[in-house]
Amino acid sequence: MAVHTRIRLALLAAFCGLLASCGGSGAPSGDAASAGAQATPYVIKFPHVVATATPKGQMAQRFKELAEQRFPGRVRVEVYPSAQLMEDTESIEALAFGEVQMIAASVSLYDRLTQKFQVFDLPFLFPNLAAVERFQASPQGRELLTTLNDRGILGLAFWHNGMKQFTGPRPLVAPGDARGLKFRVMESDILQAEIEAIGGSPQKMAFGEVFQALQTGTVDAQENTWSNIYSSKFYEVQPYMTESNHGYIGYYVAVNAAFWQSLPADLREGLEATLAEVTAWGNARSEAINLEDKQHIIDSGKSQITVLTPEQQASWQAAMRPVWDEFRGRIGPELVEAALAAAK
Ligand code: LMR
Repeated sequence: MAVHTRIRLALLAAFCGLLASCGGSGAPSGDAASAGAQATPYVIKFPHVVATATPKGQMAQRFKELAEQRFPGRVRVEVYPSAQLMEDTESIEALAFGEVQMIAASVSLYDRLTQKFQVFDLPFLFPNLAAVERFQASPQGRELLTTLNDRGILGLAFWHNGMKQFTGPRPLVAPGDARGLKFRVMESDILQAEIEAIGGSPQKMAFGEVFQALQTGTVDAQENTWSNIYSSKFYEVQPYMTESNHGYIGYYVAVNAAFWQSLPADLREGLEATLAEVTAWGNARSEAINLEDKQHIIDSGKSQITVLTPEQQASWQAAMRPVWDEFRGRIGPELVEAALAAAK
């Protein structure tokens, strides 16, 4: 993460904590809105970093279509995919400051604002999306949505992408095969620790820079879902992949609190209902999208996929175990226990 971004995030943490909520443009001009006769639509700027064909890309697009169809002339949802508008860490700041109104950044990217979401990144905690879903639906999981309320950020939903796999310049079959490789990771301390645990050299990097970094050799390897690996063409520059399912990529769908509370109640409730519907629709499809994209990669013939046996998977799990010891306390042992209970 760039130094200025870290500083802005640290300031943001303090500033929003004090103010309870920051900013919130996107509203139509005051008079029209308060008179109830809305002259211009509310604008929801919704940047994200992946392709429209991915689970998140499809959910964002469907939310736009349904919201605009159901509230004609009252709301406009501007979705900016593929990091066209900004990268993820910038989008978290932009949301808190009201420069954009809605985001769905990876849960891994919030560790400057809360340590709790790192529960999703404890290696091998969740064996599959169904386990994640059970945790997110539990009381402790639902409670997580409200974690950033006092920072002016309202969590409305969790969206799935899928389970993470490794890609690299050589077969990664045993954890020792990772030794000495430079791995791109999201801007997250727990993911950095995970790569260090297997002897790799973690490089925090924004998603929009990954393809080029892999292509030019700035980094050697990375971890991601099949849908991101396929839609962002990582498979064209990574000859080996390992189906490790060692972690989860999913998103915290959040809105700027001041903006959201400024919406007329009927519109706000209608948008929340629409989002819930889109969440159920998209989360139920995300696994199939990832499996289709895995097949696309196989069909391309450009990359060779190693599927780990249970014994091989157990050796990766053992190698990454120190991450649990380091992060359990920071996340909160009760939350980790709740996730483990749901994951069983
Ligand atoms: C990544 O940075 O690898 C992912 O979080 C991107 C995404 O939004 O899925």
